[in-house]
Amino acid sequence: MEYRLITQAGEVPHSSHLISWPGSPLLAELDVPVLAEMAKSKELADSQFACAPFARITLIPQDSWQEADGLLANLRALLKTATSKTLLLDVTALENETVRSSVLRWLFNLDHSLEDLGLKSAEKPSRRVKTLVGFCNPSQQKKMQEAFHQQHAVALGMIAARRLADIPSETCTPQFVVEEAQRLCVEYPTLRCEILDEHEIQEQGLGLLHAVGKGSSRPPRLLAIHYSGADSGPVRAYVGKGITFDTGGLWLKEGAGMYTMKYDMCGAANVLGLMLSIAELGLPVRAMGVLALAENAIGPDAMQPGSVARACNGMTVEINNTDAEGRLVLADAIAWASQRNNNTRFIIDLATLTGAVVKALGYELSGLMTQDEPLRERLTQAGKISGDEVWSLPLDNRLKKQTESAIADLCNTPTNNAAISASAAWLLHHFCPPEIPWAHLDVSGTALWREGGRSVASGRPIPLLIEHLMSDLSRD
Ligand code: BES
Ligand code: MN
Ligand code: ZN
Repeated sequence: MEYRLITQAGEVPHSSHLISWPGSPLLAELDVPVLAEMAKSKELADSQFACAPFARITLIPQDSWQEADGLLANLRALLKTATSKTLLLDVTALENETVRSSVLRWLFNLDHSLEDLGLKSAEKPSRRVKTLVGFCNPSQQKKMQEAFHQQHAVALGMIAARRLADIPSETCTPQFVVEEAQRLCVEYPTLRCEILDEHEIQEQGLGLLHAVGKGSSRPPRLLAIHYSGADSGPVRAYVGKGITFDTGGLWLKEGAGMYTMKYDMCGAANVLGLMLSIAELGLPVRAMGVLALAENAIGPDAMQPGSVARACNGMTVEINNTDAEGRLVLADAIAWASQRNNNTRFIIDLATLTGAVVKALGYELSGLMTQDEPLRERLTQAGKISGDEVWSLPLDNRLKKQTESAIADLCNTPTNNAAISASAAWLLHHFCPPEIPWAHLDVSGTALWREGGRSVASGRPIPLLIEHLMSDLSRD
């Protein structure tokens, strides 16, 4: 979707769909008779008649522009099918930063479509908005320009991630994710892909990633995406869980619980999307995204409950539950990431790690687990500003018993059902050296959103992580 900003009523595009508010300075400048009547309404007013030079005019009450959920619900209904290819959005009332970024991001995400994959045979190409024109006051122009630019780049990453996650797992294998990432990254000279195949995974000692992937006919991969927007300085590292399908392994899931498990690679998809957003914004920073890609399948070679595997940092893990595979691939990827560069500013991992985080926090909040207080504060703050929020669960050595094993350094699941999400994070913390600030985001509840009664990939927490990175950069 293209976008531009205008500040003069004389520049309004003809035949567009104008969405504005009753007291807007724009309306006073326009000579459209129907506006006077519409502006009297206390409710949303919508007309496709007598609107010339517009194709449609919608006025949304001023107070509705102060709260994201309500405004998005209105926009969603209004733009179900687009009346016009051009949307003229009067952003003069979008003063609240959280509402502004949520709305712009949602609009730019309208470009997401799987229509070209041909999965639905009789699908008519839907009518879409092609151009977004924002109207603002001259005094707002700089701020709005930045917001449009940032949210456009965020949405670009989200769309790539959502698309990859939505693709069924028999197509979307570890190797497929690698190839898609390569295809997307060549567009940016600042991005470079480094790939470990199943042999290199073993050679470099990533025994946990190998253990998870070895049961599948679609072998595991480790993909590192390096971004160099600066020649020197610390590397910001992101690690994503990329289980392209989670059957649970020999600890097999029941059918209903398996249904959405093609989405168990959302963490990895969102790391890829994040790297694309960073590159699109051209941020002056070094960053690395690591995708731990494997299929948790059943078969004669599948890992067995009770087996022990060794991670690339030398620690051994007893695998008592094969369905707790995410923490295994992440542990190796976090340890690998921590060794890859000699100056790492932080490591943040994202994963659809536990169903329990949904029980604790629901579908709006991602679970944040960290022992680094500044990182917690900054991520929490970035969540509020971006509208992509996190909530902390406690993480400290009171969880020690949860990962004790009689025969190995650690076990991958506690035998009780206590503090499931935090116990997983406790296991992970052993794989990040204490001098590197590390945070874990459990996105099981937020990586999907409901759209027309179905669950589809949401692209969260890319908005959060871009906001966090940009505020981290402004601190340098
Ligand atoms: N991928 C699942 C977690 C999950 C479940 C995400 C439902 C989204 C929706 C993960 O690999 C898993 O199976 N976790 C187990 C952990 C348990 C074995 C300790 C779970 O949540 O049941
Ligand atoms: Mn699992
Ligand atoms: Zn899983």
